[in-house]
Amino acid sequence: MPDNSYQFFSRLEEKHLSPKRYHHCLGVAKTAEQLAKKYQVNSKKAKLAGLLHDFYKETPKEIFINLIKQNHYNPELLNYNLGVWHGFLGADLLQHEYHVTDIEILNAVRYHTISDPQMDTLAKIVFVADYIEPHRNFKEVELARKIANQNLDAAVLFEIINSVNLLMNQGKKVHPQMLLTYNTLYTKDSTAYKLIKKMEEN
Ligand SMILES: [Fe+2]
Ligand SMILES: [Fe+2]
Repeated sequence: MPDNSYQFFSRLEEKHLSPKRYHHCLGVAKTAEQLAKKYQVNSKKAKLAGLLHDFYKETPKEIFINLIKQNHYNPELLNYNLGVWHGFLGADLLQHEYHVTDIEILNAVRYHTISDPQMDTLAKIVFVADYIEPHRNFKEVELARKIANQNLDAAVLFEIINSVNLLMNQGKKVHPQMLLTYNTLYTKDSTAYKLIKKMEEN
């Protein structure tokens, strides 16, 4: 990964994303960098993965639909929308269009929308950073930030519980991978779950 990758992609995003999305990406990059230092993984990679996570969020949906149809992706993907595609397929586009080859960065982008039970620490960091970056402003965000500061798995679990609840309450489809990650991280006596319950009470 060249040293100037962050600057290169930052300039590109500034040009092709809306200002709001661009600043969200910068916020995720900064938060991912901080979490990486805390959880002792490569902070430079985390910062770049955070910057890149929404690179294709404003790409027209027809491009994704064509990509799914022409490249032997599971056609089941067509039942979802840009919200799923920009991460899952965005990672492949970054690889093919911009020659991003770092598998940890690609997986962090790939799984930031639907998660994955096999997420490594870097992917968990980007998943959580997307939820708690400084521009985020929703009811549970302060609690999510506190949990992220204590336990990364608990932060992933908390985000999944809230996101799945929200999707269900809005009558939207839930990608099964979210539930697989939930089942992997959740057991009633797990440290992560207990921590969430304790912090919700305080
Ligand atoms: Fe995203
Ligand atoms: Fe995002």
